[in-house]
Amino acid sequence: MSTRLAHRNRVVFTVVEYNPPPSGRRPNRLKPLWGHFPVFAALSFVWLQGIVFSQTAARGKARPTTGKEIFLATCAGCHGPDGKGMPKETLGFEPPKTFPDFTDCSSTTREPDEDWKAIIHYGGPARGFSEIMPSFTELLTNEEIAKVVEHLRSFCAERAWPRGELNLPRALVTEKAFPEDEAVVQTNIATKSGYGASNLLVYERRFGLGNQFEVDVPFEYSHEPGHAWLGGIGDVTLGYKRLVAGSVHTGSIFSVSGEATLPTGNRARGFGTGSTVFEGFGAFGQMLPRHSFVQFQSGVEVPVRNDVAKAVFARTALGTTLTQGHLGRLWTPMIEFVADRDLATGEKTNWDVVPEIQVTLSKRQHIRANFGVSIPANNTATRSPQVMFYLLWDWFDGGLREGWR
Ligand code: HEC
Repeated sequence: MSTRLAHRNRVVFTVVEYNPPPSGRRPNRLKPLWGHFPVFAALSFVWLQGIVFSQTAARGKARPTTGKEIFLATCAGCHGPDGKGMPKETLGFEPPKTFPDFTDCSSTTREPDEDWKAIIHYGGPARGFSEIMPSFTELLTNEEIAKVVEHLRSFCAERAWPRGELNLPRALVTEKAFPEDEAVVQTNIATKSGYGASNLLVYERRFGLGNQFEVDVPFEYSHEPGHAWLGGIGDVTLGYKRLVAGSVHTGSIFSVSGEATLPTGNRARGFGTGSTVFEGFGAFGQMLPRHSFVQFQSGVEVPVRNDVAKAVFARTALGTTLTQGHLGRLWTPMIEFVADRDLATGEKTNWDVVPEIQVTLSKRQHIRANFGVSIPANNTATRSPQVMFYLLWDWFDGGLREGWR
């Protein structure tokens, strides 16, 4: 820990009773240890905090036990007793622009407990945040960290905000129920010639407690054997998603969406349907034990032109998240089952299976990639397997270049 940081940490104890042990004389209870570990001479600052903490106890004052007491004793010096953050003048450091106001439900509810625990355990840098947020591994037990996180949760007074735990990993095809602030670039490439490729740009913006606005702009490429590649914009989609219910206790979340796809693509080249298409769907997510989950999306497409067929679809994504090391990189293998059917005579249901794996790239976990293959399970004469890939940026959590170290 840098000395600059050490200096800053001292701020904490202007609100705690901070009586550093007189130099040269160590507290009695440390004597036996002292004999064994001369390295104590070079106490790290967090370690010093530990002494202060236990000294408070030795002086007859109980070690803070409730989440609130722990917060007031160790965190309030920077985060303020009300969780809003101490005023700048008192802080003694320039707060980073991501410095939290724990009463701001919109930004705090999206952080899962696990992320907060990682930050409290290992300090800000564990999630690509400022080193001013110290590590409390030496000072607080896991149980105490859990209690203090519970106290942090009490600062947001409105319980209806959906919690970040319900923000399940994004699959390649199945839409999720959680309203997001996200930008995604997805590429789908057919593995047989003559079937083309597409780049899809997705921009999602959350507003209010559970609303999300979305724009999808596709760029289509087609390739006839023996001809050059042709490219062009596809049918642009505008969408609105509304959270219906979400509970971290039952681990379930449900939302409904309405979308309009406009005929901006060139129909003759196969870049669009030539019709405005209205789409409605429901999306449901369920957390399962051991960081597993299932997501389900089903809906209907209704084109305005009656020479374009109506269609129905149902998609399921099943996955589990594995953590590399302790609270480190996340790997999420998933498998999707995708069914769609044109509502026209003679049409059959198309089935696809999509094995894929999502991985967090940045330390802050706000940049992720997913790679998979969509494999047609039937009607293979007219459909080609597709390689699918996306890069996702949860832009609310930080800039593209922030949060990597
Ligand atoms: C020395 C000042 C300081 C102390 C003491 C401190 N923090 Fe922090 N904390 C910060 C700063 C600064 C940030 C913002 C880091 C950033 O955004 O880069 C932060 C960020 C956090 C975050 C991340 C919030 C988010 O954006 O999602 C959590 C959680 C947190 N602190 C909890 C605690 C808890 C709990 C304690 C006490 C056990 C504590 N902090 C003590 C300075 C401090």
